[in-house]
Amino acid sequence: MATDFPARFREAVGSGATLVEAPGTSESELAFARSVTAGLSDDPKWLHCRFLYDAEGSRLFEEITQQPEYYPTRTEAAILAEYSVAIREITGPRTLVELGSGYSVKTEHLLAAYSESAERVLYVPVDVSDTALREASKAIAESFADVQVTGINGTYGSALPVLRQLSPQMVIFLGSTIGNFNEAETTAFWRNVAGHLPAGDFFLLGVDLEKDVDVLEAAYNDAAGVTARFTKNYFARINRELGANIDLDAIEHVAMWSPERRRMEILARFHMAQTIYIRAPRPGLRDKGRGGDSARDQSQVPATGAQGGAFRFRLRCEANLHGSEGLVRAHPARAARRRRHPALSPAFP
Ligand SMILES: C[S@@+](CC[C@H](N)C(=O)[O-])C[C@H]1O[C@@H](n2cnc3c(N)ncnc32)[C@H](O)[C@@H]1O
Repeated sequence: MATDFPARFREAVGSGATLVEAPGTSESELAFARSVTAGLSDDPKWLHCRFLYDAEGSRLFEEITQQPEYYPTRTEAAILAEYSVAIREITGPRTLVELGSGYSVKTEHLLAAYSESAERVLYVPVDVSDTALREASKAIAESFADVQVTGINGTYGSALPVLRQLSPQMVIFLGSTIGNFNEAETTAFWRNVAGHLPAGDFFLLGVDLEKDVDVLEAAYNDAAGVTARFTKNYFARINRELGANIDLDAIEHVAMWSPERRRMEILARFHMAQTIYIRAPRPGLRDKGRGGDSARDQSQVPATGAQGGAFRFRLRCEANLHGSEGLVRAHPARAARRRRHPALSPAFP
């Protein structure tokens, strides 16, 4: 079996496999621990959006899209229903690659249009959520006999190296998911896409427009509280996967329009200070650098969890998570802040 990812992916497409794992995906627990450690040790605190989407997070996001206040999904679906054929006429037949595809529900309009004019369409959804990918490929197989789905379970960055072999293609990025990035990440994202997408290929971006603040804020503060559960699930995931002790009842979901950044920002407000312990992410790994597998309190040096490829740590984070300064941003903080934690600097998302 080929070891480099583009070759492994080529083999998966050739054999009709429905799912292939990108490099680093099995290490996601370690990446999660590193990301949480870096974000909660920073000031102001932040968390990477990518980790919102475990199985429960993906399910909750799908529920959000069905809330009456959440107009973006309905609106984007209506646009795609109306214009998918026109889009296909512009691009001609090609492979469809979708970044952050989730359950691929809206994409079905594009798949219908593209499969009308080609014998066979290759669809490559890319997502960190393997549950969403599996459900999507099952639903597409049931609805479209002419569409081959070979999904990539991994991050955008890990999947982009396969783009060269998929030309002619259209890369799709819907749902205003670009808003999950901060400015530095947005620039890095476009550079990375530009570096991998051959000339003549297409990129279809779905983003919301600025509008009445009440409409925007209502969409992310639904009356049924699903978005609030989605935010809290991040902290529940930290508890579940990293053995933390965060009091979920102390967290308030806050979604507000930022006039400076001209975007919606989602935050978690803590109503009381908490000390958060995060334990070693993978039992059995030894901290070679420190000789032994006993958990260490690294509150003094939170950035040094990784030692020679092995990892075991316990972080005591005196998190000042209360009041307006204690908001934990679901958007990453400035890149400059992260330079203080080089060992934990997350790779491109
Ligand atoms: C806002 S949802 C959008 C889902 C769908 N495209 C839509 O428009 O309804 C973002 C999706 O991107 C995925 N995602 C988030 N960060 C990611 C990353 N860094 N790499 C790959 N997928 C990611 C999530 O799992 C989720 O399915």
